[in-house]
Amino acid sequence: MGALQDAFEALGLAYHKATRWQLLGATAILLVFYQFALAIYRLYFHPLAKFPGPKLVAASTWYETFVDLFRHDFPERLARMHEKYGPIVRVSPNEIHINDPNFVTTVFATAAKHRTDIIPPQGLGMDDSIGSTPGHDIHASIIHEEIRTLERKMLEAKETNLPLLDGKDFTPEWYSMIRGAAKIIPLLRHFPQIGLATQYVPAWLVQTILPNTTGFRILQLLGEQRVNRIRKEVEKEKKGQVDVEENGSMFHHLLRSDIPESEKNPARLAAEAVSFLGAGTYPTAATLILTAYYILAKPEIEGRLRKELKTVMANFNDEVPNFVDVEQVEYLGACIKEGLRILRLFRRKGRISIDKDLQYKEWTIPKNTPVSMSPFTMHIDPEVFPDPFMFNPDRWLGKNYDPRMDRNLNPFLQGSRICIGMQ
Ligand code: HEM
Repeated sequence: MGALQDAFEALGLAYHKATRWQLLGATAILLVFYQFALAIYRLYFHPLAKFPGPKLVAASTWYETFVDLFRHDFPERLARMHEKYGPIVRVSPNEIHINDPNFVTTVFATAAKHRTDIIPPQGLGMDDSIGSTPGHDIHASIIHEEIRTLERKMLEAKETNLPLLDGKDFTPEWYSMIRGAAKIIPLLRHFPQIGLATQYVPAWLVQTILPNTTGFRILQLLGEQRVNRIRKEVEKEKKGQVDVEENGSMFHHLLRSDIPESEKNPARLAAEAVSFLGAGTYPTAATLILTAYYILAKPEIEGRLRKELKTVMANFNDEVPNFVDVEQVEYLGACIKEGLRILRLFRRKGRISIDKDLQYKEWTIPKNTPVSMSPFTMHIDPEVFPDPFMFNPDRWLGKNYDPRMDRNLNPFLQGSRICIGMQ
């Protein structure tokens, strides 16, 4: 307290022991006053003040923080806000949320339509990722090859009669780690400082206090290791010490390419690797788990699927059916669509229109305002999907099919930043 005392004396003020408590008290009062004044500004003077929605979420982000950390049902609450206030809602002090599938291509526009920025995901330490990925075709071919490899490994595992998940390469720890990392996302999103702090605190302490954050650390290390290994390989290729392999990972292509060196810096590529490890594994695993669960939970669905797969699987073992044939099995497609529809994995996603205001019905949304939409809210619209929480593949087939269902189904979103793993 010596420094504080010196400062007081330098200012010619009397210092006594009560001062520190008075200072703390005054700071607390100032903070409360600031929050109160901010809430008044947001409710009555903010450019979004006229937009419909609950006053509590317009006044402060603390409501959403609380729900995300302790209730975990913000998407359902958001759906209820739309029931009450209509298709446009101010979902947080600075953000508009729209529940209207006809507006998806305006918010998630392609560059040809109008320029957009993403709403940056906070606190995940991957701010550099995805900025400029190579074209979709490169990804599609890599993914198809990987699926072939997976298929081969599953067949090998089958021959060994080992339980699949106990096999060396099907370790469940991988899924648990990514799931752990996913669980911590709400905390890191609302308190990004925690994510930053974990970079500087010893790993054992992080593991003790916040075990799930180590998932991110491990992902980061794996990403860095892989990128460094590939960098060395590419350097050897350039020096002619090894042959250039025709196929390679996305990072081989990036490091061999003539994109600016700044785009190839290790931190950015490692962030990209982490983002791919997360984006490429967890959503697919979660979709498969949910879909498999629903299929197995209902013997009539399982029975029908087995029956419908019989034709394409007729020569299985000797002959592996190709994707085109499997895609022809309508009932399988309907089951996958139902899984993707009911999966409530992603939080709302949004864009910022940077050049022009957006017009939604009578509402003019000022440019530079984050505007978000939720696939989940569109997926459970009871008008389009009667009994929306029922896993019902039949709704996609025959005369049950309503074209509005495909319009509402947006699990991969749209526009220039549509999920590149979609195919
Ligand atoms: C069922 C599986 C999947 C679902 C439901 C899914 C869903 C999504 C969604 C909703 C987005 C956000 C798009 C946006 O903000 O507009 C996204 C982005 C992304 N996904 Fe997927 N995804 C899946 C599988 C994959 C796979 C297998 C990969 C691996 C290659 C992948 C890689 C990515 C990447 C890299 C992005 C960021 C794209 C960008 O910002 O340019 N996803 N995904």
